[in-house]
Amino acid sequence: MDAWADLRLQIEWGADEALDDLPIDRLVAPLPRVVAAASASPVKPQPRPVPAAPLAPARRASDSAAACNTLDELRQALTTFDGCSLSATATNLVFGDGNPSCGLMLVGEGPGAEEDRAGLPFVGASGQFLDRMLASIGLDRSSFYITNLIPWRPPGNRNPTEAEVAVCLPFLLRHIALVRPKLLVLLGNLSVQSVTQSKTGITRARGKWQDVEIEGMGRVRALPMLHPAYLLRNHGAKREAWADMMTLRRALDQR
Ligand code: URA
Repeated sequence: MDAWADLRLQIEWGADEALDDLPIDRLVAPLPRVVAAASASPVKPQPRPVPAAPLAPARRASDSAAACNTLDELRQALTTFDGCSLSATATNLVFGDGNPSCGLMLVGEGPGAEEDRAGLPFVGASGQFLDRMLASIGLDRSSFYITNLIPWRPPGNRNPTEAEVAVCLPFLLRHIALVRPKLLVLLGNLSVQSVTQSKTGITRARGKWQDVEIEGMGRVRALPMLHPAYLLRNHGAKREAWADMMTLRRALDQR
C-alpha cells in the first residue's frame, strides 16, 4: 500500500488527529520500574490506604453541571472537565452561540471540523444551510441561541458512543435550564432521543411539539426537526423541513 492510500485509510477510520509528535512503539519492552534503593534499616511495610472508588464520569458530569449557576460557570466547568476523552482530541470546546435571552434555543448533535476549529456551533456547511432556513422565517443569531448535545468534535466525525452521550447530557440539560428558553428545537435523532429520553425515531417525532421536563427549570415545549446535514444529503426531505419551520414560526407568533 502506498503512503497516500495508507493515510486515506487512516482518515476513513477516523484517525485524523495527531496526539503526539512521535509515534509510540508499543511493542518495545516496557520501561523498567523504579525500585527503591536498598537501605541499611529494613523498611516496615505500611498498610496501603484504600483509595475511594472513583465516581463514574456521568455522575461527575451531573455533579459538576448541577453546581453551575451561570452560563460562564458551565463553560468553565466543561473546560476543566476531564471525564470525556473527546475533550483531549478536540481543538476547541464548542459551547454555544447566539442570544441566550431571546426565548428560543436550538440543540444540534455535535461539532464537525469547522465548528471544532472555530469553537462555535453550526458554522460549517450544515450550519450555513440552517441559518438560511431560519432566515426564511425571519430569524438570525440575535433571535435564537444554539448549542449541541456533544460539545467536543468526535475524531473523524464519528458518532459519539453511548458513554460519551451519557457524560455530555447532564451538561446539556443544565445548559437548557440556565438559558430557560420558552421554545426548544431539537435537531436530529440523537438530540431528540437524548433530551426526550425516548426511542421514537426522528421521522416520526419531527414536526410535533412535545413537553419535556428539564430539571431545575420545569416543562419546556420542544419541537424535533430533521438535522440540516441530513437535509443537505436528502433534498426530498426539505418539504417536511419547511413545514416544520412554519410550525416553529406559528409558535413564535403566538408567544
Ligand atoms: N452538526 C451539528 O449537529 N452541530 C454542529 O455544530 C455542526 C454540525
